[in-house]
Amino acid sequence: MKRIDLIAGARPNFMKIAPIIGALNDAKNRGSELRFRLIHTGQHYDRAMSGSFFEELGIPDPDINLEVGSGTQAEQTAGIMMAYEKILLKEKSDLCLVVGDVTSTMACSIAARKLGVPVAHVEGGIRSGDWTMPEEINRVVTDSITNWFFTTSQTANDNLRQAGVDEDRIFFVGNTMIDTLLTQLPRLRPPECWNALALEPSNYFVVTLHRPGNVDGEQGLLSLLEAIVDGTRGFPVVFPVHPRTAKQLGELGIRTPQLHYIDPLGYLEFNYLVRHARAVITDSGGITEETTVLGVPCLTLRDNTERPETITMGTNELIGTNPSNLAPALARLKAGKWKKGGIPPKWDGKTSERIVKILEQLLIGA
Ligand code: UD1
Repeated sequence: MKRIDLIAGARPNFMKIAPIIGALNDAKNRGSELRFRLIHTGQHYDRAMSGSFFEELGIPDPDINLEVGSGTQAEQTAGIMMAYEKILLKEKSDLCLVVGDVTSTMACSIAARKLGVPVAHVEGGIRSGDWTMPEEINRVVTDSITNWFFTTSQTANDNLRQAGVDEDRIFFVGNTMIDTLLTQLPRLRPPECWNALALEPSNYFVVTLHRPGNVDGEQGLLSLLEAIVDGTRGFPVVFPVHPRTAKQLGELGIRTPQLHYIDPLGYLEFNYLVRHARAVITDSGGITEETTVLGVPCLTLRDNTERPETITMGTNELIGTNPSNLAPALARLKAGKWKKGGIPPKWDGKTSERIVKILEQLLIGA
């Protein structure tokens, strides 16, 4: 038997880890000798940010919860490293598998590798080149000590090659987040606000904003919201608010009654909203992948992306963080001039199966 520690810590990890758990369970039922231990770092802990995803995506209760909670970057990193190290010192696994680019991803990979436990990184190799994002530092640090990379794109493969990673450590498998999306499509369901706001398909916008660069400065946040109000006039706009953004809006006393602020949604309701939206306006990375697969126009309020295929192949466009860029982009959208887009290679719902097959070869030699 070989055991893998599966690390999940923050909201965008949960939809990436769920299908890997499914594929590992399928493999076990076929007689595979792979086993896993699910470790939740507790970076996200609210029901809306964590528990509801476990329920809706059928993720089992974690075997271990490190309960690190909120804190500064260093506090969270240190807290997760110390707690995970204790677990490993008691009982090591044969592999530490991390996903994405959150603080939990980096912290657990460091703790594992220092104790001689190899690391696999799902979504390895992507780069924004933007060193102001904590995620970019998490990616670069994680990838510098990762043994095996499971990648979502050719660009990620190229980034790793350029960094000197040998070909036999790079596995271009596709996107586990899309495995989840395709599995859950039939179960998506309208949120409460659907009827309350009398929403109709293709006749409303969805907004999400949570990057510190966009929401932590008073004037910047207000100008972005005003530009969204101006550019979407005549359409309802639904804005599920991330806790960081909610805190800022509250503290700054910002009010834009034209936008419908709602609590963060669960997976099934959020993606129902996205699937039927006229367009999504966001500063998220993961959502640009989901909109690409759903064929929904996406306007990204960032100056760079680590997911360029959502632009070259998908429906995403980088609008930048200057609020004045929004009006012309929304005018193009309303004029029906948005690109249609296609689906990047291997984003086909079978990525987790591929990953588990490779893990069997790497760990068991099967
Ligand atoms: C983290 C990830 C980011 C990801 C985002 C999705 C890092 C560096 N960033 O950012 O890549 O896109 O998650 O949500 O890992 N809070 C709650 N309840 C919770 C969790 C957080 O209220 O369950 C509040 C706390 O006030 C906390 C703040 O949200 O201080 C930010 O949480 P944190 O985990 O530090 O980072 P995110 O901004 O969520």
